[in-house]
Amino acid sequence: MKRTVKTLVAASLVGGAAATAGAYFGLVNVGADDPHLPAVYAFLSMARDRSIEVRSRDIQVPDLNDQELIRAGAGNYNSMCIGCHLAPGVAATELSQALYPAPPNLAEIGVDGNPAAAFWTIKHGIKATGMPAWGKSMADPYIWGMVAFLQQLPELDTQQYRTLVASSGGHQHGGGESDMHNHENQHGTPGDDHHAGEMAGMSHHDEAADDHHAGEAAGASHHDVAADHHGAELASADHHAGETPGASHHDAQPAAAAPKPATKTHTHADGKEHVHAH
Ligand code: HEC
Repeated sequence: MKRTVKTLVAASLVGGAAATAGAYFGLVNVGADDPHLPAVYAFLSMARDRSIEVRSRDIQVPDLNDQELIRAGAGNYNSMCIGCHLAPGVAATELSQALYPAPPNLAEIGVDGNPAAAFWTIKHGIKATGMPAWGKSMADPYIWGMVAFLQQLPELDTQQYRTLVASSGGHQHGGGESDMHNHENQHGTPGDDHHAGEMAGMSHHDEAADDHHAGEAAGASHHDVAADHHGAELASADHHAGETPGASHHDAQPAAAAPKPATKTHTHADGKEHVHAH
């Protein structure tokens, strides 16, 4: 018995050392176009699912049939999520096709049977997948709005989806919204569809005819500094840690039609006023 344990420990030390050496010499391909081995994929999926399950277990789910909540969620979802997660009438985008792991089509799966887990995921994001932690810029009630909306989404057809989005206040979650520049359905002409992934937070640029926008979502460097800045904002917002992203250089929209949270205004060292929802 003792011998077996010793052998196992020795084997795992050797295995661990081999894995570390392999990684050190660059054997792990981190390219997003190189899928994981099935066993690695299964392990990572299990780790993610269990992590979210355990962390969302005690979350209290509010009334998700509240129409106001659903409406507010529709506007925010349409502004911030469809580039990756699609919607009725919104076809695959550069982002939705190029990310690995692929963002699930939420128009089909909605909250995936677990509103608390969806809330946790939207609030905290998922490391190294492209799924952002929206809790950095949105207070909980706005996140619940999107959960409430997602619960309805698989039932909606394109017309119902658009009507609901139009009836919402658009993109609003307490005053710090950054302009996401959605251009869905505005690039119908052939050859123009290289813009399909644009809604993920890019500025609209004057483009040279051959200026291909692939990769822009990551904060492409061939544009001016401001454009770069927008790209980075979506992914992390860390230059505003603790604030709503974009608050200092965008026109904050009035929080008027927001669902519930109280807003408060304060002035930063840079002299700008910010409205926060906390
Ligand atoms: C830049 C792309 C991107 C954007 C923008 C994005 N997500 Fe995600 N999201 C992902 C990816 C990728 C995953 C899957 C990660 C994985 O497989 O582990 C994901 C997973 C999720 C899940 C879990 C789905 C499930 O059941 O497995 C939910 C819910 C979700 N996102 C909601 C949202 C909402 C709501 C928004 C907008 C506020 C949003 N996401 C914006 C990339 C994105």
